[in-house]
Amino acid sequence: MRTYLVTGGCGFIGSNYIHYMFRKYGDSIRIINVDALTYAGNPENLKDVEKRENYTFIKADICDKEAISAVFAQNDIDRVVHFAAESHVDRSIKDPEIFVRTNVLGTAVMLNCAKAAWELEGGGFQEDKKFLHVSTDEVYGSLEEDGGYFYETTPYAPHSPYSASKASSDMLVKAYMDTYKFPANITNCSNNYGPYQFPEKLIPLIINNALQGKKLPVYGDGRNVRDWLYVEDHAKAIDMVQEKGRLFETYNVGGHNEKQNIEIVNTIIETLQEMLAEDDPRRALVTKELITYVEDRKGHDRRYAIAPDKIRAEVGWEPETMFRDGIRLTIQWYFEHGDWMKNVTSGEYQKYYNEMYHVK
Ligand code: NAD
Ligand code: TYD
Repeated sequence: MRTYLVTGGCGFIGSNYIHYMFRKYGDSIRIINVDALTYAGNPENLKDVEKRENYTFIKADICDKEAISAVFAQNDIDRVVHFAAESHVDRSIKDPEIFVRTNVLGTAVMLNCAKAAWELEGGGFQEDKKFLHVSTDEVYGSLEEDGGYFYETTPYAPHSPYSASKASSDMLVKAYMDTYKFPANITNCSNNYGPYQFPEKLIPLIINNALQGKKLPVYGDGRNVRDWLYVEDHAKAIDMVQEKGRLFETYNVGGHNEKQNIEIVNTIIETLQEMLAEDDPRRALVTKELITYVEDRKGHDRRYAIAPDKIRAEVGWEPETMFRDGIRLTIQWYFEHGDWMKNVTSGEYQKYYNEMYHVK
């Protein structure tokens, strides 16, 4: 039975990936999920899989060499899918160091432990072992408003401490591939949205605030562009790259779905108005009057857009969920998981929110 070691599986994309993999492969794979359970990691995201015999959760920090090498020593790991990271740009602007620690040092530890476990005495690696590093399109920097796309050949030009730390981790993976022929891939994906996303990110923050009639903070002129992908399509891409991609290659993942932030906010408001029942008291709260332009993010990248030609041609991946369907699925999920939202926004989140958005 093939064994996957997933890092950061209690976060947004990791938990969607684990659900996707169990739906697809059932009992024919085993998943070990290593997560440190930071503010972004929530074991509740995986409560429907935690009783499976082919699922194991290990609470550990990816920077902890001993803990990670013990996971490799005690299990015959075939695939690593490395999600664990600090992932929020605004937090990286306030406190860059933790991003360097987790994203760079943590990735170095993961690479070293996998290398040590998979290395053969006479050189080379055991057969059919693969490491996939999950990265972002933000490593390529920012595009002009009126054109261009990120290709796998686009030079790295990260701007935020978050994207700089992810770029550094990508470079480490590339160095392992070049130096040791370490069996790996990198995927650089555009912005994800969907169930289980922590409400510090644009889409769940806007949904959560709108349902409470709170202000909807839009940075700068609201015209920055992101290329949005439904999270399940990302999970599928990661699996397909490990199954069908060429080793040592990088694949960009995105679905040509560029939207200005203000369009996203307007779409959420309109969709909420359509989806809320006539007699739902929240319906009266959700209006465009809530939109509030606030101070711009420092160094705010203007536009991201992925050219997914390579993953289409070589791997046969296509996104399946159109934005108009994905956003309804996402809003429906948040409707049905009010308790999840209450739990994650109690305590620390309020403090973060008040500081970040200058709420007195
Ligand atoms: P997230 O913040 O929701 O989850 C991160 C997870 O990693 C959490 O469960 C957290 O507890 C865990 N973690 C953090 N530090 C850790 C440590 N030191 N040791 C072990 N676990 C630790 O992030 P996400 O949005 O799910 O992103 C996952 C990955 O995908 C990241 O590498 C991110 O850079 C990349 N990515 C994200 C997006 C996006 O739109 N969210 C797009 C492209 C790529
Ligand atoms: P975010 O979800 O933080 O993702 P990223 O910065 O990694 O792209 O932000 C998406 C876009 O939305 C980005 O241009 C910043 C903007 N934004 C707002 O306008 N208001 C907000 O409150 C947040 C969190 C983001």
